[in-house]
Amino acid sequence: MAEKRGLWGSKIGFLLAAIGSAVGLGNIWRFGYMAYENGGGAFLVPYAVALLLAGIPLMILEYALGHREASSPPLAFARVNRLWEPLGWWMPTIAFFGINLFYAVVIGWCMNYFVLSLTLGWGTDTGAFFMQSFLQGSGSPLELGGIRWPILIATVLTWGINWFICYREVSHGIEKASMVFMPLLVVLTLILVAWSLRLEGAWPAIRENYLSCDWKKISLYTDAGRKVWVAAFGQIFFTLSLGFGIMITYASYLPRKTDIVGNALLTCVLNCLYSFVTGFAVFGTIGFMAQAKGVPFSEAIAGGPGLAFVVYPEAINQLPAGNRMFGALFFLVLIVAGISSAISLTEAFACSIVDKFNISRQKAVTLICGIGVFGSIIFTTRAGLYILDIVDHFINNYALVLGGVLECVLVGWLLKAQVMRKHVNTCGTIRLLPLWDVLVRVVTPLMLLVVLGSALYQEFQGAYEGYPVVALLIFGGGVLLGGRLLSFVLSHFEWRKEKLRSHHTPDQEKLLT
Ligand code: PHE
Repeated sequence: MAEKRGLWGSKIGFLLAAIGSAVGLGNIWRFGYMAYENGGGAFLVPYAVALLLAGIPLMILEYALGHREASSPPLAFARVNRLWEPLGWWMPTIAFFGINLFYAVVIGWCMNYFVLSLTLGWGTDTGAFFMQSFLQGSGSPLELGGIRWPILIATVLTWGINWFICYREVSHGIEKASMVFMPLLVVLTLILVAWSLRLEGAWPAIRENYLSCDWKKISLYTDAGRKVWVAAFGQIFFTLSLGFGIMITYASYLPRKTDIVGNALLTCVLNCLYSFVTGFAVFGTIGFMAQAKGVPFSEAIAGGPGLAFVVYPEAINQLPAGNRMFGALFFLVLIVAGISSAISLTEAFACSIVDKFNISRQKAVTLICGIGVFGSIIFTTRAGLYILDIVDHFINNYALVLGGVLECVLVGWLLKAQVMRKHVNTCGTIRLLPLWDVLVRVVTPLMLLVVLGSALYQEFQGAYEGYPVVALLIFGGGVLLGGRLLSFVLSHFEWRKEKLRSHHTPDQEKLLT
């Protein structure tokens, strides 16, 4: 007999949780910088193409798979094809060990900086403060140095929040949290954007660097141009939290009657809109700072942690008024965006463990968050930043995209795309067109294979960021292979028979009629 499975309490709850997962640190510190480097406004073209050809079709696919099987990724994969279970495990395992462990630490950095912003405790040389005083960087991923206690304490707090939210059933935990986090995030972000736009020098910087189009940069006839296209596909994957099994998990708690296409479109569009709008805050603030310091914009901008922890504090120092408030606001935005993504990573792994080992959600979440605290420790050492950079690079370039290709093969070819399309069309009102079959069977996987090939090619052009090859093998290769190994081990345990058979839960059947 199928057992009861918790469902979302409301449609909006699910949607906010899914958008919460998608909107994360990457939207704030990755998108704007990528656009800047890759043709400004022109970058929106490859970005939109990637969204249409890979983002939306795969979002529909993940939602549909999770919804149809009403189960976590490993079980959903196993139900379609028993042999594919290890791949179903690979996604949440990699999501947890490859992203969640360091994501929690980065949220910990943000918490530290939130506190620092109240006194502008980062001083005048923000670059030196971040690298030397705060991280006390050892200079090499192989030299761990000691643990940075303020970072570890904040990381434990982050895991505590994760535990607190995921411990309850989704409708009480993640859903309630998302109902608070997401509106809060929108309000805080809009205040930040409005404030940034009023700063001196904001608009000219936005016009010249963010909105102006350099079409040459996205030309498919040049090597550099093609790289931009590949980067756009990579970013779409990361930003939509695809290829991790997260959206499969979230959709598994949906009631039978659900508009999968509509939800997928909304998740994708709102996530990308969030990135685009926050770009105005980023470019406005940096434009102001560049003008205030009299340096060219190109020297002022940075991406990733450099943007949040070096450039922003510097800009905050320069503000004519309200520095502390502005700083607290910015880091609070990062913390909220980060936590709403982190809980989705925890949930995907926890849901898989619950499905397979038949233990309570409470036990699974407690176990996972405990492992999380220990696993995160390595990122809180003095080599943390470098290890994080390596792990992030390998997961983003390989694991996600490979996950996407495999999902396409599983659903498009093994299950057959039209079977899934039929399912989507019987459950919702917005019809999924046969074009989707072509996309998930051929176009999307081919595009993703090109992205994968290009990343591989670049890997062999030289060690990533000049890190020692041993470090790349240990941390990058280690996470990828370790994840594979663990997936095989986890797949080895037997499912309870009814798990593999039961397709729909009683709750869902009730909603069908
Ligand atoms: N989508 C998140 C971002 O843009 C990153 C993320 C990926 C979070 C996968 C959770 C899972 O930052």
